Amino acid sequence: MKDFKVSVVGLGKLGSSLSACFASRGYEVLGYDINEANNKNFNKGKPPINETDLDKYFRKYKSKFKSSSLENVILNTNISFIVIPTPSSKNGSFSAKYANDVFSKISKILKKKKDYHLFVLVSTVLPGTSRNILLQKFYDNKVFNFGYCYSPAFIALGQIIKDFLEPDFLLIGQLDKKSGTSLRNFYKSIYKKSMNYRIMSLESAEITKLSVNTYITNKISYANMISEVAQRIPFTNIDDITSAIGSDSRIGNKYLKAGLGFAGPCFPRDNKAISFIGKKIGADTSLALTTEKFNLNLNKNNLKKYLKYFKKREKVAVLGLSYKPNTNSLDESQSLDLSNLLSKNKYKVFCHDKKLNSIDKKPFDKKIVFKKHLKQCIKNSKCIFITKDEQIYRDITPKSLKNKIVIDFWRILKNKKLDKSTTYFSHGDSFNNFETKMNQRNIVKNIES
Ligand SMILES: NC(=O)c1ccc[n+]([C@@H]2O[C@H](COP(=O)([O-])OP(=O)(O)OC[C@H]3O[C@@H](n4cnc5c(N)ncnc54)[C@H](O)[C@@H]3O)[C@@H](O)[C@H]2O)c1
Repeated sequence: MKDFKVSVVGLGKLGSSLSACFASRGYEVLGYDINEANNKNFNKGKPPINETDLDKYFRKYKSKFKSSSLENVILNTNISFIVIPTPSSKNGSFSAKYANDVFSKISKILKKKKDYHLFVLVSTVLPGTSRNILLQKFYDNKVFNFGYCYSPAFIALGQIIKDFLEPDFLLIGQLDKKSGTSLRNFYKSIYKKSMNYRIMSLESAEITKLSVNTYITNKISYANMISEVAQRIPFTNIDDITSAIGSDSRIGNKYLKAGLGFAGPCFPRDNKAISFIGKKIGADTSLALTTEKFNLNLNKNNLKKYLKYFKKREKVAVLGLSYKPNTNSLDESQSLDLSNLLSKNKYKVFCHDKKLNSIDKKPFDKKIVFKKHLKQCIKNSKCIFITKDEQIYRDITPKSLKNKIVIDFWRILKNKKLDKSTTYFSHGDSFNNFETKMNQRNIVKNIES
């Protein structure tokens, strides 16, 4: 298979970004989404989300996008990327209901098609889903002239385009050799430079996708666990420790930084999914469960340490709400959880995030107040929690932090010369520093009063 005619089914966050990347490499993309508004926007060159560079790509390559009916999309192209939701169920598994729907419909359309068609599932699925559930729809409808690969994307919100265009590696789970080779050839046309790819069975690839994420979350939790230790031992500096550990080539520095726990739409759910599978098939996956539990308890454990030094009902600011920089996504956000915990503990919480204009009532405790202006948020509060590493917080002036208590989870102000009246604590370092500073602060206050 050489002359690729590309389509994308599911034009949400990933599907639209993937389309933009294909268009940037010269492909025309025929798209289909069950949501009519997404189809219309695709035709108009309007991205469905606020994502770094996506708007720029959509404007630039508008003429290469066209949406059509699912039937037209399948009949007029020969390689389709399927990027539909696979939401988590309560038991930790992923629901395949959207994928089932798409594959059922496609299997009927395929009956009208003579030429070979390659399907590439990008959505995250449980091991066994491709072969045992989705492809079964094709076999049930007696269609056989197709290829199939499972090729998930390793992307993070806020940098989807970059992650797509410069992947660490490409994962290809193949139904058969022809499918794998065809997809590899397609990727070669996208990634002109040397391309790191791995081809394997569908099931191995399905496991690999989950494993990458669960391994990374393990690494994040490991850094946070070491920080728990370091905080309780005098004279420690957590970044000295983790950067030394990471400099060992067997380990590496990426994702080995203590701070808040992991969050987002993928990391937490992939751990739950591995735990679910383990239970189902009798494999010991307790490591994933432990990582998950450790991460869930992190905020509570951190607050236990800090709050005993704060006055009851103190005014507290939480700076940064989305789960990571460069995105407005609140999925499983640790800062959101921290804000809610503070509010439930009767602290008066003000919060700020430059990526948000307001906060929906639903995930937030109703007493939490959103401040659009950073200055105001800081001014209103006595204690400041910096929960996101963003330039706007790096630029906070020493003057605005006079007389405040600052807990800096990512240690971004550590090297700034702050006013003597500011009680600053770089989270992760020896907690003695914080205790000493808070005790000094209270002694001074008692002497003054
Ligand atoms: N968002 C992430 O950070 C991320 C990262 C890695 C993997 N993933 C995985 O990628 C998949 C897609 O994620 P997303 O963030 O793009 O989801 P999304 O909800 O933004 O987009 C999915 C799109 O599919 C459409 N859709 C649903 N049913 C359909 C159907 N029957 N036919 C056609 N279109 C249909 C929806 O209308 C929606 O526009 C999920 O499995 C997710 O786990 C997401």
